[in-house]
Amino acid sequence: MKPIHIGILGAGTVGGGTYTVLKRNQEEITRRAGRAIAVKMIADKDLAKARKLADQGVIVTDNAHEITTHPDIDIVVELIGGQTIAKDLILEAIAQGKHVVTANKALLANHGTEIFAAARAKGVIVAFEAAVAGGVPIIKALREGLTANRIIWIAGIINGTANFILSEMREKGLSFTQVLEQAQKLGYAEADPTYDVEGIDAAHKITLMAAIAFGIPVQFSKVYTEGITKLTGEDIRYAEELGYRIKLLGITKRVEKGIELRVHPTLIPVRRLIANVEGVMNAVVVKGDAVGATLYYGAGAGAEPTASSVIADLVDVTRLQTADPMHRVPALSFQPDLLSDTPVIPMEEVETSYYLRMQVIDKPGVMAEITRIVADYNISISAMIQKEAHDSDRVSIIMLTHLTVEKNINAAIVRIESLPVVTDKVIRIRIEELNN
Ligand code: NDP
Ligand code: HSE
Repeated sequence: MKPIHIGILGAGTVGGGTYTVLKRNQEEITRRAGRAIAVKMIADKDLAKARKLADQGVIVTDNAHEITTHPDIDIVVELIGGQTIAKDLILEAIAQGKHVVTANKALLANHGTEIFAAARAKGVIVAFEAAVAGGVPIIKALREGLTANRIIWIAGIINGTANFILSEMREKGLSFTQVLEQAQKLGYAEADPTYDVEGIDAAHKITLMAAIAFGIPVQFSKVYTEGITKLTGEDIRYAEELGYRIKLLGITKRVEKGIELRVHPTLIPVRRLIANVEGVMNAVVVKGDAVGATLYYGAGAGAEPTASSVIADLVDVTRLQTADPMHRVPALSFQPDLLSDTPVIPMEEVETSYYLRMQVIDKPGVMAEITRIVADYNISISAMIQKEAHDSDRVSIIMLTHLTVEKNINAAIVRIESLPVVTDKVIRIRIEELNN
């Protein structure tokens, strides 16, 4: 059978990895796909980069539109990133009747509704396995493997850069800036690394997973997002002493009032498998009503792990190309006309438990004042410790709470911070036990 022809847009980390793995594993990939997947064209702004990658016979160009409009290209692989040119190119490819494979979570989280609708109207596929958790086939698992289930919650370490930073800070005592530089050199970080460290990239990914898990529209603007830039070595150490590890988690949960959708640093018990996921590795726990908790683990970033997902999509598209569009798996798992309008609940209404660290002047009555305030908001304390001060009259008080509603904790923090004996802002980190 004649090969399927693909054009790669962007010869960077993932574009390069995709080309290399396709070439290296060509024979096995062909046996799986049923026909060869041949790279016909590569576009990069930097023509020299595209030339360096391409073998003889592959057309290189610095004009990506040449690929999206070329009559011989069947699948456009968008690996440029960003939400401007990438969006135009994807919509152009779709309008030309071409299937699209992309790793671009920022684009899909913000413009997924428009892009999937355009693809549906044209009867083409937009595949995006690489957009969430790099090489971990979590989209396939959610969309196909778990379709029998009512999904209850998902919690994931879904940003390799942030996890790498937290691991290195904890294990080697390195500074935030030193580790971020390493992650950039290794090709893990986004073009704008604030996406990684401020939780935005994880928010893009949890948005996509929530849509697939619950059959709701893609709603990036509704995600509560808090990054890791304010975390200190002190809190990482105290958390360990209390039996917890701090991870940047993307969380989405079905609760009585609607859907929770949030990204923030989270204390999780060290005994959970996911707490032991270190470095650039990602892990996603999905709890379904029938299957229970399932765990998906693997490299969340990097050239070849991400290429693994891009190529899995290429094989899927190749196999399904001739199938009636009605018989393909819907992009977001649920039939597009059967999406639910279950609301995403505001963060103030989310119920979870908390780690609070308060810097106070060490004198009688301080504990009593603080516990009085939390009791006023009906917050129940599960543990409280005071760390001894060696060279000052200030001490840290650490409090763990039972489940409470976020707005109550916010109100209690405002009152605690107004006490004259409290010298600094209260540090608040949410806790998830991940056990039900
Ligand atoms: P890179 O920056 O390494 O590669 C992007 C490439 O596209 C660069 O070579 C860039 O050139 C080129 N480019 C920029 N604008 C154009 C244009 N108009 N036409 C043609 N080429 C252009 O990014 P990554 O490979 O890391 O990421 C690509 C996508 O994959 C992003 O959406 C990212 O979020 C996603 N992703 C990345 C992962 C990773 O581990 N890196 C993992 C999972 C997803 P120049 O450098 O000259 O600007
Ligand atoms: N910058 C992302 C990360 C790449 O570090 O996880 C994978 O999406």
